[in-house]
Amino acid sequence: MNPFTILIVDDERTLARSIKLFLADHGYEAEVAENGERALELLERLRPDLVFLDMNLPGISGIDLLKRIKEYDRNIAVIIMTAYGSIEGAVEAVKLGAFDYMKKPVDLEELKLLADRALETSRLKQELSYYRQREVRGLPIKGIIGKCEAIREIIARVQQIASLEETPPILVTGETGTGKGLVARTIHSQSRRASRPFIEINCTALPATLMEAELFGYERGAFTDAKESKMGLFEAAEGGFLFLDEVGDIELPLQGKLLRAIEEQTVRRIGGLRDRRVDVRIVAATHRDLEREVKGERFRKDLYYRLAVITIDLPPLRERGEDILLLANHYIDKFNAKYGKVVRGASDEAARNLLEYPWPGNVRELSHVIERAILWSQGERLDIEQLSLATSPHAKPADARGVPSAVQGLIPPEGIDLAERERSLIAQALQQTGGNESEAAKLLGIGRGALRHRVKKLGLRP
Ligand SMILES: Nc1ncnc2c1ncn2[C@@H]1O[C@H](COP(=O)(O)OP(=O)(O)OP(=O)(O)O)[C@@H](O)[C@H]1O
Ligand SMILES: [Mg+2]
Repeated sequence: MNPFTILIVDDERTLARSIKLFLADHGYEAEVAENGERALELLERLRPDLVFLDMNLPGISGIDLLKRIKEYDRNIAVIIMTAYGSIEGAVEAVKLGAFDYMKKPVDLEELKLLADRALETSRLKQELSYYRQREVRGLPIKGIIGKCEAIREIIARVQQIASLEETPPILVTGETGTGKGLVARTIHSQSRRASRPFIEINCTALPATLMEAELFGYERGAFTDAKESKMGLFEAAEGGFLFLDEVGDIELPLQGKLLRAIEEQTVRRIGGLRDRRVDVRIVAATHRDLEREVKGERFRKDLYYRLAVITIDLPPLRERGEDILLLANHYIDKFNAKYGKVVRGASDEAARNLLEYPWPGNVRELSHVIERAILWSQGERLDIEQLSLATSPHAKPADARGVPSAVQGLIPPEGIDLAERERSLIAQALQQTGGNESEAAKLLGIGRGALRHRVKKLGLRP
């Protein structure tokens, strides 16, 4: 099935009917209006995406009707049908915003080609406006970097998912900066849908009503500001991927509608009367523990189960061992190029420092640290001063207990996960002391008994 609806305006009934049947054979829903008045009525009821308009109509003229349609909603594409000899009128029509014109007698194959082209063009136009709104990204993505077991498994899984023609939604989880967005984009770029759109929306950014309009679109007149119809992101992502970033932040009332759209692969624009089929694959990401959100009744259970059939859980950077250095070198190359520097790598001490630091902001934080260090670098080696990470015994500790400043800083507006922080600090202390509980407890400023208790509670290995 095709998501588009076409209106044919022609007083020659036999011709109009044969066009309608021909289009129906090609999966288009089409309706006929035999005059201008009827066409205006159907405009309201049908909300067509495309109108085939005969120039010689009884009553309201073709040109007037074209103007009315364009006033009504300039996103509706109009193709003029004109009798041989009245090309001038057709040229004027194109100036007034008609997409194209075709001569009568109508050649049905030509008509179909024109319809496909008009609809594709208007889809692309609207899709493009979404692309323009998106922030311009920095350097191109090189793919997922990492050789540790966990990342290797993730890369394999991403490839596997990308090679499938159809999959249920994919849920990517992990702390901030672990590469959730990168994974989503890589799945798209490796898939057969790579040349189709990848549309992303950050669900934190918008209140529920605006979010609904963004996702599902609206028809003209759906609300006071809706002067013309607009397709939603689901429609804009047709044939490609829709990336719902921070899906855990979607407000409850909208979660039901989202679930319906995903399950039924259809959307209904706000103020719209009909469902439109969409062929869109969904990737969602969240830094939240969605199971906990479900228990707290902040996230719908059914939506969670729908999204979490395939999950990819990104480990925090501090658990990726030598990958930290691999990534550091990647960023050294990148920022050398950007700032015209010649750094070859990190000194031994700096490398140790990079490995020991707990990276609460994960890969994103690492990239910022390296960028700053490269900016300040003088020679070929990055040393520990340039990194200015707080955990090294050589660097100035952020406080007496050596808690890194990034952990101490302001709590970000999206909030933190205290249990997760506790867990990662304990894991870090144990890692730093090679699993020595007394030493680790000392680092954390608690007794050994207290540490053991927490290790057990949080299910960490000593
Ligand atoms: N394994 C990796 N290899 C290369 N680059 C990476 C890797 N992981 C993350 N990055 C890069 O780090 C930056 C942060 O990653 P990304 O934005 O995907 O994280 P995120 O998990 O979506 O974070 P947030 O939860 O804050 O949105 C991006 O520039 C991304 O390209
Ligand atoms: Mg992200």
